[in-house]
Amino acid sequence: MNSPTPGQHLVELDVSQPVWDRFFWVAPLVLIGTREPDGSHNLAPKHMAMPMGWENYFCFVCTPRHHTYSNTRRDGVFTVSYPRPDQLVLTSLAASPRCGEDDKPALSVLPVFPAKKVAGVLVEGGYMFLECELDRIIDDFGVNSLIIGRIVAARVAEDSERIHEGGDQALIHNAPLLTYIHPGRFAIIDNSLTFPFPAGMKK
Ligand SMILES: Cc1cc2nc3c(=O)[nH]c(=O)nc-3n(C[C@H](O)[C@H](O)[C@H](O)COP(=O)(O)O)c2cc1C
Repeated sequence: MNSPTPGQHLVELDVSQPVWDRFFWVAPLVLIGTREPDGSHNLAPKHMAMPMGWENYFCFVCTPRHHTYSNTRRDGVFTVSYPRPDQLVLTSLAASPRCGEDDKPALSVLPVFPAKKVAGVLVEGGYMFLECELDRIIDDFGVNSLIIGRIVAARVAEDSERIHEGGDQALIHNAPLLTYIHPGRFAIIDNSLTFPFPAGMKK
């Protein structure tokens, strides 16, 4: 154990193993939508998923073993739905193991609606929806790849749209956010405070 600051003991983690299960960290939770080769839709939850910079790019981490990866590589498009807290169980069910003909029966309980600009579906009841064209896939981060899309359409539920800063706290209170806390926990955020940015800060 090291002790760089008085009273705080740091535990050295073994970096020959993944470190990410050794402490908690906060992530979003989205459903990535793709199309299977037979034209049916696929949805898969991802927590390693976020904006790729300040412009309209979105990225997520995926392993090439997943249908989401091969579908995206083949079709060059994917969708992103941000579920609400009351959709937690359905969101998780989209990760159910495949069976029989390699299909995921759990998908039949997730109501969907068609995307507008790309071939695919979005999840009804979510609060934010993105439609993306594949920009690039970067492979070989160990067993994972980074999939990056350009956002070509975006829609937000009326109750979740930021219209003016003064209403932010009430907005989150009235339309709470679902977060994934790795490993294996979740939280519902319905309360928030203004971030204390330093005066004069520039992006
Ligand atoms: C809460 C949760 C978060 C997940 N996050 C990711 C992720 O960020 N990246 C990933 O590759 N898989 C992630 N998974 C696993 C896959 O989405 C899951 O195995 C899925 O069924 C793969 O489906 P597919 O073969 O249809 O793509 C997550 C699963 C759950 C339950």
